[in-house]
Amino acid sequence: MKILAFESSCDETAVAVVEDGRRVLSDAIASQADMHALYGGVVPEIASRKHVEAIAGLTEQALRDADCTRADIDAVAVTYAPGLIGAVLVGLSFAKSMAYGLGVPLIPVHHIRGHIAANYLAFPELEPPFLALAISGGNTLIVDVRDYTDMEILGATRDDAAGECFDKAARVLGLPYPGGKPLDALAQESKGGVYQLPHAKVDGAPLDMSFSGLKTAVVNLAHHAEQVGEPLDRAALARDFAQAVSDTLVPRAMEALRQTGRKVLVAAGGVAANSVIRGDLERACARRGCKLYLPPLRLCGDNGAMIGAQGYYEYLAGHTAGMELNAYATRDIAD
Ligand code: KG4
Repeated sequence: MKILAFESSCDETAVAVVEDGRRVLSDAIASQADMHALYGGVVPEIASRKHVEAIAGLTEQALRDADCTRADIDAVAVTYAPGLIGAVLVGLSFAKSMAYGLGVPLIPVHHIRGHIAANYLAFPELEPPFLALAISGGNTLIVDVRDYTDMEILGATRDDAAGECFDKAARVLGLPYPGGKPLDALAQESKGGVYQLPHAKVDGAPLDMSFSGLKTAVVNLAHHAEQVGEPLDRAALARDFAQAVSDTLVPRAMEALRQTGRKVLVAAGGVAANSVIRGDLERACARRGCKLYLPPLRLCGDNGAMIGAQGYYEYLAGHTAGMELNAYATRDIAD
């Protein structure tokens, strides 16, 4: 079954063709990051307009790269939530018209379910049940993936997402948007251990997380150093910051494995590209005797193929939609 898949929830327009949920026939992506870098973050209205400009051409490219015609497409999958509402609406409207025009089913896909499903593309043997640590620009979740479309949130951030925190920390360190990748590179220049940063705990919810205090601490440290004219060891601060995020995420993922008795952990989302977090997850899972799946870097960030992968399993579960399908800025992954 060939699925034409659309992703437009943030600043990447992406269209892919995926066969039977596991085989990527094409994966066309147009990133707007350079444009938003001028403003230090995503400008939602610009993101929507750029999606409108890119999506038709990318669809042609995705079909061409997959060596497909429209007649070969069996269904259309699309991110319908969560994300920037105007941005999501562009992909959704385009996907609806495509499904209507081709006379094929329309499959709504939750963006974070898609991030998790990116692992099905990289690891043919991977099947639920497993635990997922989904860490992206807008979401930070520990999810029990009981089956392809049956999920339960075990832990979540109470405020900022891990990626948002990386982007803000990078900004005060003078790094370009999106800051996670350049901060990761800067952090590799230091062993850290210089700056004391907070590690927040949420009372009565050991698997929940909070990153806003950490973000504020980094901003205050950098501003204080600037105001009093003290030198700032930027690489050490980047390293200590990445370590603080990892020290929040990794022990909670291990605790979730302990509580559920699951033996497999899957990482997902843009922040899963972080080298400190990847290294810590590898060591922690080896100690627990658990199998760890780390998506290849190209599948960590937003892409259309992951929506095609999850879309296949949503279709098998009977989750299709009519033309009344709406976009949502927020939506529970378990819904
Ligand atoms: O999953 P993603 O591409 O978009 C969302 O669905 O939100 O995640 C984007 C986030 C950004 O905050 C970006 O700075 C972060 O992932 N990111 C990283 C790294 N590469 C991307 N954060 C830490 N280390 C990285 N190497």
